[in-house]
Amino acid sequence: MPESKQANVRQGNTLPRHVAIIMDGNGRWAKQRHLPRIAGHRAGVKSVRRVVEQCIDKRIRALTVFAFSTENWRRPQKEVGLLMELFLNALEREVKKLHQHDVQMRIIGDRSRFPAQLQRRIEEAEQYTASNTALTFTIAANYGGRWDITRAARELGRAVASGELDADDISENALQSRLALADLPEPDLFIRTGGEQRISNFLLWQLAYTEFYFTDTLWPDFGKESFAEALESFSSRQRRFGRTSEQVEKEKVV
Ligand code: IPE
Ligand code: IPE
Ligand code: MG
Repeated sequence: MPESKQANVRQGNTLPRHVAIIMDGNGRWAKQRHLPRIAGHRAGVKSVRRVVEQCIDKRIRALTVFAFSTENWRRPQKEVGLLMELFLNALEREVKKLHQHDVQMRIIGDRSRFPAQLQRRIEEAEQYTASNTALTFTIAANYGGRWDITRAARELGRAVASGELDADDISENALQSRLALADLPEPDLFIRTGGEQRISNFLLWQLAYTEFYFTDTLWPDFGKESFAEALESFSSRQRRFGRTSEQVEKEKVV
């Protein structure tokens, strides 16, 4: 076992508290099977269910998944419409079960552009599961990291304009507290499936010190073993947060 890993194990720090995932590759998965892209998205919902179960099993506190970006409106109208339908159906089907497992559901992103019925379902799901504590499961839908930061900046601007906040008091904390996920620990582990190695405007601020894990596995093929591999990779990393490796080792070996 490498030194850094031993230290991690000793610290009992092998599991992430918060995992963030870009679920990519649904379209290619469908294409490989000569199926319409929506079949890939449907298979992708099953992968979400598997990962949620794994998080509950392993007592990971928070899971955030990227379901629809602010740029995904640029896709063919038909695919966007079917994705909205799928989102609505999945919410209707899964919420009860998630509630039984003590999962709190949240949706981050600008929901105002969604069909009215979907907006209502989202609100219901959030209210219904609001007091659950085993896992905070957040779905980023019509979300963009830039949207998130811009919105927080706008709120800061309003607070300054109303005299509630002094411009000199705009700190990292003041901005952070106005972002989505402000009350959760920042993601420890970021996973992107589907082979691309980019953030695609996901959690830009919140990923500042997150460990990145990229896999070629397409999202519908991402199962229990794939998740275990990602966790295994995470547990072998040494997180230094700007310090030297020697400093980190010293702190851990007590
Ligand atoms: C991710 O899969 C799901 C969404 C963006 C909604 P894609 O649909 O991007 O799949 P690929 O990248 O085309 O394979
Ligand atoms: C990122 O996937 C967004 C989601 C998974 C929801 P995309 O497939 O849209 O990303 P790009 O366009 O390849 O960067
Ligand atoms: Mg994609």
